[in-house]
Amino acid sequence: MNKFSIAIAGGGSTFTPGIVLMLLDNLDKFPIRKIKFFDNDADRQDKVAKACEIILKERAPEIEFIQTTDPEEAFTDIDFIMAHIRVGKYAMREKDEKIPLRYGVLGQETCGPGGISYGMRSIGGIIEIIDFMEKYSPNAWMLNYSNPAAIVAEATRKLRPTSKILNICDMPIGIETAMAEIVGLSSRKEMDIKYYGLNHFGWWTSVKDKEGNDLMPKIKEHVAKYGYNGAPGELQNPEASWSDTFTKARDVWAIDPDTLPNTYLKYYLFPDYVVEHSNKEYSRANEVMDGREKFVFGECKKVVEKGTSEDCGLHIDEHASYIVDLARAIAYNTKERMLLIVENNGAIENFDKTAMVEIACIVGNNGPEPLVVGPIPQFQKGLMEQQVSVEKLTVEAWAEGSYQKLWQAISLSKTVPSVSVAKQILDDLIEANKEYWPTLK
Ligand code: NAD
Ligand code: G6P
Ligand code: MN
Repeated sequence: MNKFSIAIAGGGSTFTPGIVLMLLDNLDKFPIRKIKFFDNDADRQDKVAKACEIILKERAPEIEFIQTTDPEEAFTDIDFIMAHIRVGKYAMREKDEKIPLRYGVLGQETCGPGGISYGMRSIGGIIEIIDFMEKYSPNAWMLNYSNPAAIVAEATRKLRPTSKILNICDMPIGIETAMAEIVGLSSRKEMDIKYYGLNHFGWWTSVKDKEGNDLMPKIKEHVAKYGYNGAPGELQNPEASWSDTFTKARDVWAIDPDTLPNTYLKYYLFPDYVVEHSNKEYSRANEVMDGREKFVFGECKKVVEKGTSEDCGLHIDEHASYIVDLARAIAYNTKERMLLIVENNGAIENFDKTAMVEIACIVGNNGPEPLVVGPIPQFQKGLMEQQVSVEKLTVEAWAEGSYQKLWQAISLSKTVPSVSVAKQILDDLIEANKEYWPTLK
């Protein structure tokens, strides 16, 4: 069987070891000959790479491994880029979250002004990697889950319309895993679903088992009581802030009981609640730095010091196996049905044809073929039109260097109460992002 060469962009990511272990666990389905780590922070990447090198030597010594900060070395002779970069790292995420909170507006990685700010940093980073890919491995595909995926997807649609990039998010996968648990199925793959929306902004309209039985009533009954968390005594999301988000899905669901919501709608539908429950001094970025980042880098250090990955706490990122499903769909033309962020192009009948929407696609060796959704209700259409305009204006602001458009983008976010608050937040964000954003006029 043909073996693949992979570049992981953002080699120093907290998710890299879990993804490497996941790839090793799937070698029978997706054989690999080479793994290359690429990052623009050599020190950070080295800490993860040294540990992964040991893991690879122990478990699959036949796989060639390198880490590099040189784009030519990273992106020559590759079949897939798996991209999870975070331009500005956690230090900038912290600012994205804390600056809006100063003005009573929620601070979140991908939603509201924080997401817009992150988008203004990510666009350049992702476009740069696409250009390297096209230069050094023109037949390769980029599987992108760098955030904010909605803005990144719109930017590549507009600025690199023919590029072979597939934008995907794991949140629907996480929620479907919870749904499967609720109805007593062992995997989300035992369900057939219908879903539409924008990234971090969507709804399930149908969930059935493989015999065609409707599972929505049972899931709704559960969500009405506990959101996507387990009942008391059953599985709760282990992280307190995620657990709150899973539980809050109960209230998000109540406004439209015909559908089941993505958890991220909490930020748009309950911004006041989110602000009240936020700590201005200690945001999610702080939690992640004290939690996931410390843990992953601590475990990597132990692996390097001991010279072995035996007994290490790094674990397979099980649900990241959707990345292998996606790569296999392209490589082997599996025609698997997957949710991807793609150009609407009429799939949602009564919605902007050029919007990047998150919908089901059949994925084969030519890429994704979106499936028809049909018309959507006024409530969702109204929300989505507002949010997609935020995303489009952000990309226009980046491409044109337009202060005015970025001010409009922030003002239009449902999380922001007024144009004057938007301006204050914007001016602070410009100051904080001097190193990363294009100059705005
Ligand atoms: P992290 O900061 O630990 O890792 C990101 C890495 O990217 C860092 O090592 C950083 O040095 C590197 N980097 C930054 N700019 C770069 C550039 N221009 N070129 C190359 N490398 C660059 O972050 P993390 O928490 O592990 O998350 C990584 C990314 O994955 C984030 O964008 C996050 O939002 C995203 N993510 C997305 C999903 C999804 O559902 N789409 C799920 C999980 C994580
Ligand atoms: C979910 C989302 C991602 C997000 C991730 C991590 O999986 O789909 O887009 O990046 O959570 O969030 P965290 O706050 O834990 O870094
Ligand atoms: Mn996501």
